[in-house]
Amino acid sequence: MSDQPMIRATDVAVEYRIGSRVTRALDGVSLDVKPSGYKLGVVGESGSGKTTLGLTMMNLIESPGRIVGGRMEYDGKNVFELPEKSAREFRWKEVAMVFQSAMNAFSPVKRASDHITEVIVERTEASKSEARERALSLLSEVGIQSDHADDFPHEMSGGMKQRAMIAMALSLSPKALIADEPTSALDVVVQKQILQLLKREVSRLGLSMVFITHDIPLLWGLVDDVAVMFAGEVVEKGPITKILKEPMHPYTEQLISSLLTLDSDVKMSEAKASIFAPVAEHGCKYRFRCKYAFDRCAHESPKPKSQGQVMVACHKYDKPS
Ligand SMILES: Nc1ncnc2c1ncn2[C@@H]1O[C@H](COP(=O)(O)OP(=O)(O)OP(=O)(O)O)[C@@H](O)[C@H]1O
Ligand code: SF4
Ligand SMILES: [Mg+2]
Repeated sequence: MSDQPMIRATDVAVEYRIGSRVTRALDGVSLDVKPSGYKLGVVGESGSGKTTLGLTMMNLIESPGRIVGGRMEYDGKNVFELPEKSAREFRWKEVAMVFQSAMNAFSPVKRASDHITEVIVERTEASKSEARERALSLLSEVGIQSDHADDFPHEMSGGMKQRAMIAMALSLSPKALIADEPTSALDVVVQKQILQLLKREVSRLGLSMVFITHDIPLLWGLVDDVAVMFAGEVVEKGPITKILKEPMHPYTEQLISSLLTLDSDVKMSEAKASIFAPVAEHGCKYRFRCKYAFDRCAHESPKPKSQGQVMVACHKYDKPS
C-alpha cells in the first residue's frame, strides 16, 4: 500500500446558510485517503459533518451549502477548481459514493438493471446491449441474479436495493468508494451481509474506501484508520485498533465508554445529559461536555497534533507534565 495520498483534504471548511443562520458543517478538516485498498472509517454523532465530508470529497456540495475554504486534492489536483466537465469525469469514474439515502435514490418507474445500464451508456463508449450485459454482471456480482435484475424498486427488499446501489457505484470502475452509512436502515442480519459484500468488493477490486458511520463498532475489522468527527472537526485520527483500545480525545473516550455501559441506567442518564450539552462557540467546541476541561479550553481552539501514530486535537496533551 502506497503512503502517497489519493485524496488529501487540507483545512476544508463548508457552511450551510439559511437566511441569517450559518452552520459551519466542516471546520478546518484535514485528512488523507491512501490509494489501493486503504480503508478509512469516519465516525461521529448526527450532525457532526460526516455526509458533508463525503460530498465535499466528490465536490458535490450544493446550495444552501458552500465550500468556504481549503483544498481537496485527488491525485494532486484540487477538485474544487476542476472545470465542470473534468469534475463530471472525476465523479463516479475516479471516486464513487453510496449515498446515505440510497434506499430512496432509485426511480420507482425504472428497473434495477436500467438504472445501471443508463449510467454506463451515458458515461462510457459502451453500446446499450454491452452496457446491459455489464449491468447484469455487476448485479450478479453483488448477489442479485438475473431473475431479479429487472425488478422495480418496490419489488426489492432494503438489502437488495442497497446491493443494487453498490453495483451502481461500481459501474464505472472507480478507484475509491465513499460509503455513507450504507447499512443503517437495514436489520442486523442484512447489515452483516452488506458489510461482507462491501469488504469483498473493495478487496477484489483493490479500491480505497471511506466508510461513514455513527456506529464505531462496525469499523472493527473493516478499516485501517478511523477519523472521529465532532461539530465539523476531526478531533482524533489513527489506527482503528489504537483508537478503540486507547482512545485519546475525551469525545472518543465518551463514544467508546458509552458502548461499554449501555446496561447501566445511571451511566446512560449521565451520557444523555452530556450529549444534550451545546457545542461551545469559542475555545474547544467539546468543552461543555468534557470532564477534563480546564481554563485554556475556554479560550483557545485545540489544533490537531501528532501523538505517536495518532493525531489528536485536545489541550490535555499540551499540558506540561
Ligand atoms: N442541506 C443542508 N441545509 C442546511 N444545513 C445542512 C444541510 N446539510 C447538512 N446541514 C447541516 O450541516 C451539519 C452537518 O450535517 P451532516 O449531514 O454532514 O452530518 P452527519 O454527520 O452526516 O449527520 P447524520 O449522522 O445525521 O447523517 C448539520 O448541522 C446539518 O444540520
Ligand atoms: S481541549 Fe479541553 S475541553 Fe476540549 S476535549 Fe481537550 S480537555 Fe476537553
Ligand atoms: Mg450523514
